[in-house]
Amino acid sequence: MGRIASYRDLGCLVTGASSGIGRDIALLLAREGARLVLTARREDLLRELAEACLEAGAIAAYALPYDLDDPETPKQLVAMAENHLGHVDVLINNAGFAVPGLFAGTDLERTLSMLRVNVSASVELAHRVLPGMVRRNAGGILNLASMAGYQATPYQSAYAGTKAFLLNWSDGLHQEYKHTNVAITALCPGVTDTEFFKAAGYPKASGILKYRMACPPVAKLGVRALAKGKMEAVPGGLNKTLLFIQRLLPRSWVANVARKLMGVRPMPVRKTPRP
Ligand SMILES: NC(=O)c1ccc[n+]([C@@H]2O[C@H](COP(=O)([O-])OP(=O)(O)OC[C@H]3O[C@@H](n4cnc5c(N)ncnc54)[C@H](OP(=O)(O)O)[C@@H]3O)[C@@H](O)[C@H]2O)c1
Repeated sequence: MGRIASYRDLGCLVTGASSGIGRDIALLLAREGARLVLTARREDLLRELAEACLEAGAIAAYALPYDLDDPETPKQLVAMAENHLGHVDVLINNAGFAVPGLFAGTDLERTLSMLRVNVSASVELAHRVLPGMVRRNAGGILNLASMAGYQATPYQSAYAGTKAFLLNWSDGLHQEYKHTNVAITALCPGVTDTEFFKAAGYPKASGILKYRMACPPVAKLGVRALAKGKMEAVPGGLNKTLLFIQRLLPRSWVANVARKLMGVRPMPVRKTPRP
């Protein structure tokens, strides 16, 4: 089973680093003395974060703005990251967003973009860096799945589908590479206090979305779980309890409860991508 004894001097590529969980993961890796390539679309935030990472203890921090919706990006990003880092020891597949609402009423192009960013880009990035990790018999990949990956989530059905993919794919890779020292972990947060809901276009926090876990402990659990070589990490006692209970119940019952919990919110109005 893969473990990461220390992040010191490791070359880490963090996607979705401009805000939320990705930003906090980058800062944690910086404190451990990693070398970082930080990517997302908002260059100003990436540059600011690169400065903060250097102050926090990163050996190096580079801001590389890329749009993961562009199918050319993963190839170019890995090539650029390797130019800056030598090779990628650790990949944090974190960038992602949701397109909530009643499915047929959602914007199709934005939904397809979500599949590209959440799923295709994560798969391609991993496929490009994993052979090197296996050759060196070191390093790891942290995939940002979600509690939404464990069951159907009505009114976020396609988003939950991307997270179910990431979770099952990541668990499968964890098992496939268990004979190596490469760590592969799925981090499965519940509702977490980030820009995620604003980016998705929720007009205000209501229903279960009001009860948000703070972001830093979620990021910390992810970084630690990867270092320990865990297959999955679920932050927070409440999330763990909910997961335990739902495993004892029929899937249709769980999906029905999820529909009631998700359906009481006002539907989002945003249809266009953030920047
Ligand atoms: N917050 C939650 O409740 C929650 C729960 C479970 C799982 N998650 C997962 O955690 C991950 C991080 O989300 P977060 O909560 O930290 O939300 P966030 O603050 O909105 O961060 C999302 C990140 O993804 C980047 N991103 C979005 N679209 C992109 C694109 N086309 N190209 C490149 N980067 C893109 C954003 O950067 P730019 O806008 O600058 O491009 C941003 O840095 C996501 O995968 C999300 O699904 C979140």
